[in-house]
Parts: sequence; structure tokens; C-alpha cells
Amino acid sequence: MKSEGIEGTDRFLSPGKGRGLKALKHFKVGDLVFSCPAYAYVLTVNERGAHCEFCFTRQEGLSKCGKCKQAYYCNVDCQKGDWPMHKLECSAMCAYGENWCPSETVRLVARIIVKQKLQKDRTPSERLLALSEFESHLDKLDNEKNEMNEADIAALHHFYSRHLDFPDKATLNELFAGVNNNGFTIEDEELSHLGSAVFPDVALMNHSCSPNVIVTYKGTTAEVRAVQDISPGEEIFNSYIDLLYPTEDRNERLIDSYFFECDCKECTTKSKDKAKMELQKNLSSPPEPEEIRQMVRYAKNVIEEFRKAKHYKNILSCSLAFL
Ligand SMILES: C[S@@+](CC[C@H](N)C(=O)[O-])C[C@H]1O[C@@H](n2cnc3c(N)ncnc32)[C@H](O)[C@@H]1O
Ligand SMILES: [Zn+2]
Ligand SMILES: [Zn+2]
Ligand SMILES: [Zn+2]
Repeated sequence: MKSEGIEGTDRFLSPGKGRGLKALKHFKVGDLVFSCPAYAYVLTVNERGAHCEFCFTRQEGLSKCGKCKQAYYCNVDCQKGDWPMHKLECSAMCAYGENWCPSETVRLVARIIVKQKLQKDRTPSERLLALSEFESHLDKLDNEKNEMNEADIAALHHFYSRHLDFPDKATLNELFAGVNNNGFTIEDEELSHLGSAVFPDVALMNHSCSPNVIVTYKGTTAEVRAVQDISPGEEIFNSYIDLLYPTEDRNERLIDSYFFECDCKECTTKSKDKAKMELQKNLSSPPEPEEIRQMVRYAKNVIEEFRKAKHYKNILSCSLAFL
């Protein structure tokens, strides 16, 4: 099946960075560059009951799976939609009880294997980069990383053998390494961790410490928006890491997790390092009790405002739907 591509962008070879994404048209700050449904995703265990496992909607009074009583859904449609994935875990969670403890990466990889069996054609999440093309850097893994992969593969066999036919070990090794290098964590608007996912087209973007897009999430779909004006021909860069750290720390993290050293303008000029080091110093000295009280009060108010805004947005979209 021929891929349709993503309007206004194209895949290209970015010198020294492998494949990348470039703009073919002008994007203004705030423009949606593209959105990408998750190829596969998993809700984190700690958010069970608060979010629907299928669409990630947060609401009170979700209905739980009658069998395992661990997975919660908006309605029967969401439960049915999730069954091909949830069935991997439903009976295993009953059987293992408290001993059921695969890591989130293992849970995600189990879902990817199911998805690969169910959908042979290119998916809408792979318009420019297919999951099978993920850069895994397998040749660069050190002993520690190889051992972690081995442990993940053992856990996959341990917890999922009843419902899954596994590919061979070399393929699994490559899949875990590819997911570690290209996977995303999904956060809500309060930046709490909701789950893990793969969005192949989003993973095509290379990293910069001065990115021109950011990725946010609507349910299980990633949205890529411009945070700087982007001209035709320019590369589209996302940031893979927390940018509040100085250059040396950022590069340690990039080398360790993604196997490259960044050569962006921020890393070359180090112009913000002094301010960032100052910030880290302030963050590492413990604040006074009154400061903590003020911060908690402030954070609670902000969260409350977010929730209200979200609530009103939902009411508004329901009302508009009735008009
Ligand atoms: C999520 S993938 C991005 C797409 C990748 N270039 C490809 O061809 O599949 C992450 C990998 O891209 C490369 N990469 C990303 N940003 C880079 C940068 N700023 N400089 C050099 N390599 C980079 C590294 O090999 C990294 O492990
Ligand atoms: Zn739902
Ligand atoms: Zn269940
Ligand atoms: Zn950089």
C-alpha cells in the first residue's frame, strides 16, 4: 500500500542525524503540523480506574471489566475496542494476582506484537516512517542495556505466553531496542504520566535543544505543534529531553538514551547554561516550609483551573453537538 505522506512535510536524510522530517510549507507558531494516532499504547497501572484504558478519557464512574476488575472503561464500545489488547492481560492478572508485574515497556511490546499480527498493511500512524524501520542502535548497546533487554524478553515470555506467539529472540531484541529509542511517554495537561506509546511518524523527528515543535496528547493521539515559525525546507525538530538542564547534562542523557551528541545552537553556544545551572542550584537546595506551603497552594489552584477549563470545554463541545 502506498503511503499518502503528511501534507506540508516530507521525510529526508538529515546530514549526520539519519532520517528526519522537513517542512515543505510555512508553519506559524501554534499551527498544528500534524497529528498521529498511537500505533500501540498502554495506560500506566497507577492511573487505572481514573482513565478509560481504551480512549484515555479521564472521568468519574468508569465501568470495570467484570472478569479482572482492574481495567476501567467509558462504555461497552470502549471495552470492546480494547479487548484485542486487554485479553492479553485480563486472565493473567487474575491468575498471578499481586505477582503480575511486567514493566510498562514489556506491556507495550506485547501490544505491538498483537498489532503487527492484526494489521499487516501500513497504518495511519506510519505515513512517513514504519515501525519496522525504527532505528534500534543494537550494535551500540552495552552489557547493562543488553541485560535489560534480556530481562524484558524473559518477562514477556513469563507473563504473556498464553496469548502470544513470539517472534524469535533476535527480532524481539531489536524490537525492545527500537521501542526504547523511539517510544513516547504520554502525559496529561498536568504533566502526570498516563502511559507509554509508539507514534512512528512522530519518532521520525530528530532532536534539538531549541525545538521548533512540541508534542502534546489528545487521548491516545499525538499532536505536533509549531513553537517557532518554520520556513519551507527547514528541518522539524522535537526535544527528547528535559531542557532545564545545562549542555553537559543534556548531552549525557542524549548519549546514554539515544546514542548521539547534540550539535544544535544551544549546545554550541551554551548561551543559557549559566541561568540553567543557577536554576538547578536553587532547585537542589531545600525550600523553606512557608515556600512549600505557597507552592502547594499555587499548584492546587492551577490544577483546579485546568480541571474547570477542561470541564467547561467538554460541556461546550456537548452543547455544540446538540445544536
Ligand atoms: C527517534 S529517532 C529519530 C529518527 C532517526 N534519525 C531515524 O533515522 O530513524 C532517534 C535517533 O535519531 C538520531 N538523532 C536524533 N536527533 C539527532 C541529533 N540532533 N543529532 C544526531 N543524531 C540524532 C539518533 O540516532 C537517535 O538515536
Ligand atoms: Zn473510553
Ligand atoms: Zn479484564
Ligand atoms: Zn542541543
